[in-house]
Amino acid sequence: MTRPSILDEVLTSAGCSGETDPGDRPRFAVTNPATGDRLGHVPDMGRSEVHKAVRSAKVAFPVWSRKTAKERAAILRRWYELIHSRVDDLAQLLTLEQGKPFNEARGEILYGASYIEWFAEEAKRIEGDILPTTGPDRRMLVLKQPIGVVAAITPWNFPSAMISRKLAPALAAGCTVVIKPAEDTPLSALALAQLAKRAGLPDGALNVVTSVRAAETGEVLTSHPDIRKLSFTGSTRVGKLLMRQCAETVKKVSLELGGNAPFIVFEDADLDAAAAGAMLCKFRNAGQTCVSANRFYVHASVLDAFADKLAERMTALKVGQGLDEDTTVGPLINPAAIDKVEGLVDDAVAKGARARLGGGRHARGGNFFEPTVLENLDDTMEIARAEIFGPVVTLIPFEEEADAIQMANDTPYGLAAYFYTQNMARIWRVTEALEYGMVGLNESVLSGENAPFGGMKESGIGREGSKYGIEEYVEMKYLCHGGLGA
Ligand code: SIN
Repeated sequence: MTRPSILDEVLTSAGCSGETDPGDRPRFAVTNPATGDRLGHVPDMGRSEVHKAVRSAKVAFPVWSRKTAKERAAILRRWYELIHSRVDDLAQLLTLEQGKPFNEARGEILYGASYIEWFAEEAKRIEGDILPTTGPDRRMLVLKQPIGVVAAITPWNFPSAMISRKLAPALAAGCTVVIKPAEDTPLSALALAQLAKRAGLPDGALNVVTSVRAAETGEVLTSHPDIRKLSFTGSTRVGKLLMRQCAETVKKVSLELGGNAPFIVFEDADLDAAAAGAMLCKFRNAGQTCVSANRFYVHASVLDAFADKLAERMTALKVGQGLDEDTTVGPLINPAAIDKVEGLVDDAVAKGARARLGGGRHARGGNFFEPTVLENLDDTMEIARAEIFGPVVTLIPFEEEADAIQMANDTPYGLAAYFYTQNMARIWRVTEALEYGMVGLNESVLSGENAPFGGMKESGIGREGSKYGIEEYVEMKYLCHGGLGA
């Protein structure tokens, strides 16, 4: 196994370089989902360590928030540059703990870093307002101030980018942060924190809580009165729970939750472009992304042609370990993930679905699943409603535009939707009718630091990235300055 040098630096900084912990503190193992190999151990923190982290973020808040925007921007910029200087090392670490192909991991590191660069620039543009006064003796202003200590809880599918997408705007605004990365992938978080420290982030401004005790640590982060905001990316079920817990202390929340993205191919679409887009959208991260196409609605007149083009491209996919050069689809994250995807496919097939390609676990065994195309689906099948989070395409025919829109919107989710057409009037009709926070039109890769990422309905609250992203981390304060004389 190739061992990235940053792995040892991270384990040493987490106090877990040896096989045993001299202090007998609880630890947990991080494993490679492609092989089951242990990469190392990190501290399994609980209630008291989370309290300690919140205290440290609270103490650091006046230090960090009183720096000028330009000073904060310079540190963020250095952090961005350090990440760039270690990109291959960080990508290798990411592949080892998460499984995605090295090139995708490298892309994720750069994608995540782009949020740091973006918000380093935005830090200098957190502008308030001067309002037209209502009287000659008064002046009226709006100030924007950092909200305070922020808790961030992040998922395993993008162990680096989902962290920088939250930390960069929070730190740029002047907030301090306690972050709890997913237990499957804590190493990328520790690596980012280490580079942030090297970039000059003051002690306590960023605190990483590694833990397998999600309920216990989540309970402290959502109930602690010194935390003013929670930013969470993960499932809708957990997001609702955390939001309920935050209600008691009325915290501001940003939630980036589940998706159930429709991918609509109209009869007038460029089918080659649609098939190429479907490949990127569906098989990035082995289908384990919230914006991954989850339901393919294809006009009945082009369904066979589209399915053939897609299947042809899919036969070129190479399932394997992420560090093998030709791998394009890595493993799923853990045995529970593979059981879930297998269960959905088996249920569909038992109820009459047909596998045009794939249909089960990959011959490599372990956490690998075959790229699969299912057709002949109906509403009785769980896969027709569930977020699949695996490399499985479900093909569903439609006849009328209105039916495609109705089916696309018939879900509590509203994160991303995609459609392919060449018809200008249809472009506007469908764009306006889709109840989604993000829409890809003849395009299947939407994300970028300059665009607002987020969903409607049960897919979340708030937006990450773009000029809007920093608003999630500031409070607006209205100042009415009176007694100024006539
Ligand atoms: C996600 O799956 O939550 C993030 C995907 C992206 O940023 O493109």
